Amino acid sequence: MTSTSTTFLHFTDLHVGNQETDSHLYSDTTANILQFKDMLRGLDPKPAFVVATGDLTNQGDLESNRKLKSLMDDLGIPVLYALGNHDVTKSRDGFYEGVLDRTDHGGAYYDHDQLVAGVHVVVLDSTEPAKVGGSLTEAQFDWLNQALTRHPQAPKIVAFHHPPAFENNPKMEWESLRWQDSVKLAEILRGRNVQGILCGHLHSDRVTSWHGIPVIMGLGSHGALDPVLPRSEGIRMLSYTGFGICILRDSGLEVTFAQAPGNRDVLMDYSGEKFKAAMAKWETKSAEAAE
Ligand SMILES: [Fe+2]
Repeated sequence: MTSTSTTFLHFTDLHVGNQETDSHLYSDTTANILQFKDMLRGLDPKPAFVVATGDLTNQGDLESNRKLKSLMDDLGIPVLYALGNHDVTKSRDGFYEGVLDRTDHGGAYYDHDQLVAGVHVVVLDSTEPAKVGGSLTEAQFDWLNQALTRHPQAPKIVAFHHPPAFENNPKMEWESLRWQDSVKLAEILRGRNVQGILCGHLHSDRVTSWHGIPVIMGLGSHGALDPVLPRSEGIRMLSYTGFGICILRDSGLEVTFAQAPGNRDVLMDYSGEKFKAAMAKWETKSAEAAE
């Protein structure tokens, strides 16, 4: 039997926007994406497609989505998009109209799947407008169950924005899918030839073995969460960016994290007393809700 391999890219947390009008955009993401494209010029073999796992834009507005589309279109290869929390700060409208040229969506979850270059890519929409953390609905689980029956011979890559919750920690629910949804997802994906899960959200290059499936989180083009600041102490964003070069072989998935040059300056700091105060507020609110 001859062996096959497919090369593709993992982009995430692109945060396309306008730094002049958006005080929550901490780096020139458009310039950073152009830098990625420069880095890709010599890549051999050429990637067959891109999976972009959410926070495609910083505010979800129409103009940023149009800018995203033009930045991605000239790669000249299919781009499979997942939505992230920043894409739905108000609604999914900006993405649907700016990227897909659709206004008939009725706010529907953007779940979709496609056989591309021999790989069955299944994309889930883990967002809920105006929420930072991720979730999946019963209807989405039903859809996923169906989608996984398609293209039975093809290896599968599943993509969505929020990583699964690897432990049950309600305090950190903002950084992942809900715990109960993660448990259910693991049950559905078991034994379905899923070679890897691609996700983003935490602006980090990270690999987690989750019920035997590699979960690949990418860094993105906005900035990196300081990897040595304990997660329980807040977040600090540093000035470096990157993307993943993926090779899917018969033997499994390989991902090389390609980091662009960056000076690691602090772009944003939400740690220390500020973070402790926010957590205390959250605990009071949760305790009140539980009464
Ligand atoms: Fe992000």
